[in-house]
Amino acid sequence: MTKSTNSAILTAHGLTKSFRSGSEEVIVLDDLSVEVQAGEFVALVGESGSGKTTLLHLLAALDTPTKGEVYFDGRRLSEFRADERALYRNEKIGFVWQMHYLLPEFSALENVAIPQLIRGCRMNDAQARARELLAEVGLENASHRRVGEMSGGEQQRVALARALANHPAILLADEPTGSLDYRTADRVVDLLENLHRTHHLTSVLATHNLDLARRANRTLRLANGKLTEWVVPIVR
Ligand SMILES: Nc1ncnc2c1ncn2[C@@H]1O[C@H](COP(=O)(O)OP(=O)(O)OP(=O)(O)O)[C@@H](O)[C@H]1O
Ligand SMILES: [Mg+2]
Repeated sequence: MTKSTNSAILTAHGLTKSFRSGSEEVIVLDDLSVEVQAGEFVALVGESGSGKTTLLHLLAALDTPTKGEVYFDGRRLSEFRADERALYRNEKIGFVWQMHYLLPEFSALENVAIPQLIRGCRMNDAQARARELLAEVGLENASHRRVGEMSGGEQQRVALARALANHPAILLADEPTGSLDYRTADRVVDLLENLHRTHHLTSVLATHNLDLARRANRTLRLANGKLTEWVVPIVR
């Protein structure tokens, strides 16, 4: 197995991603490289359409690059067998989607238990962990509620609990405060920061929320297919 030469937990090297749009080739990520150290809290900002979701999908092995490579713990994702890729997505990565993709007909508890059952966890253990995580995100009294009947902020918290269900090393979150009002977004930002710390995560969060970006160890801005370090402006 080819190893990268550094100690970063997640590395993108020379990453290019293009999409075909009719006869045109649209280059979204253009020879982009980045290293994320274990334990880092990284915010990813950039205008709508700049490629944040595209980059997160490549880091999560949900899509493959046109060129370049992603390394997890020094191992090339492109060399993972199909079962290793599935394991990587299910156990190493916790993903919070831009649209959360919870199962609306199922309860919060079931939504958090299901990824564990897929991993082969016993029902009792999966439910116990789901209860614990739902309590951590402040939904201890809502575990039986159908997700489709919950508010946007509550659903976002269920999505966070679900992302952590299988003890991931890395949390990738795509606009975790996107559809929330200012006050609820604030609470989710606090929660993300706490979960990052207590679960010893490495977090990469795509966001338009400057409060969230300000709390990160490092903020990277995606523009014209490239990443640059960005200092979040102070708004008074
Ligand atoms: N599967 C696809 N096929 C074709 N084009 C795509 C595909 N996925 C993304 N794109 C294009 O790639 C560009 C980047 O999209 P992406 O969703 O990564 O942006 P983003 O930074 O996440 O935007 P937002 O802030 O609105 O979520 C857009 O122009 C989009 O239309
Ligand atoms: Mg996006």
